[in-house]
Amino acid sequence: MNTSPQVFQESAAVYDLLYGEKDTLAEAEWIATTLESHGCPPAGRLLEFGSGTGRHARILADRGYLVTGVEPSSDMLERAEPHPRVTYLHGDTASTSLEEKCDAVLALFHVMSYHTSLPELHAFYETASRHLDSGGLFAFDVWFTPAVHSFVPEARVLEKANSHISVTRTATPTEDIAQSLVTVTYDYTVEDLTSGTSSTFTESHAMRHFTQTEIELLAKQHGFELVESREFMSSAKPSRNTWGVWFTLRKI
Ligand SMILES: C[S@@+](CC[C@H](N)C(=O)[O-])C[C@H]1O[C@@H](n2cnc3c(N)ncnc32)[C@H](O)[C@@H]1O
Repeated sequence: MNTSPQVFQESAAVYDLLYGEKDTLAEAEWIATTLESHGCPPAGRLLEFGSGTGRHARILADRGYLVTGVEPSSDMLERAEPHPRVTYLHGDTASTSLEEKCDAVLALFHVMSYHTSLPELHAFYETASRHLDSGGLFAFDVWFTPAVHSFVPEARVLEKANSHISVTRTATPTEDIAQSLVTVTYDYTVEDLTSGTSSTFTESHAMRHFTQTEIELLAKQHGFELVESREFMSSAKPSRNTWGVWFTLRKI
């Protein structure tokens, strides 16, 4: 498993604060509409790899879907709010084995990009395939190679606060071009606004980016066909400006 013990553990406590401005409701609605436009039954059964704090799972469940979320970080899972139509499991894509088949398998917000080695990528596709019947959908967004090469990753600072804490996160990327990898070192400073104390920690995230050809080759090897690729949350064709590209695959 690529996810080292440090990844999404200490940062889990500030994950929802850092990404609170993302319009998860609109994202989940777009995802559901996209799946249903390709034949996924409304209120069907979904398997979500890397469900994190359950941001999308809960909204999809509110729409009627029955969702199983699989997440390797126990700290992310602890923060996942329960929902009667969501089952959260501790595990990774390689180890997932449910008794029932699903209508669609999802991996949202760059989860596939955390699968950096070929064995992990084969496990990602293989586990999805095992949980789908013919016609079932496998859908995910990934870092898109042409955009990563176009916007060379650079250091960035993100600052967020609520009434209790403020968080400053500095992201410093290094690239391994031959392996299609960007390793981002995240340095966090979290300040407790009541006591005035602060703490620091560091996480290193290795992320892989993909071309459409790589996605299609893996799809073919595991018995999927490409249904569509487009910019996430849009109908635009992927371009060198599209960092996050959405792929929908169908099991043959
Ligand atoms: C950027 S977060 C996205 C979380 C969630 N999907 C969201 O949209 O907020 C990436 C997630 O992928 C999970 N992850 C990383 N490697 C994984 C693997 N091999 N199997 C399943 N999940 C994995 C991480 O623990 C983390 O929760």
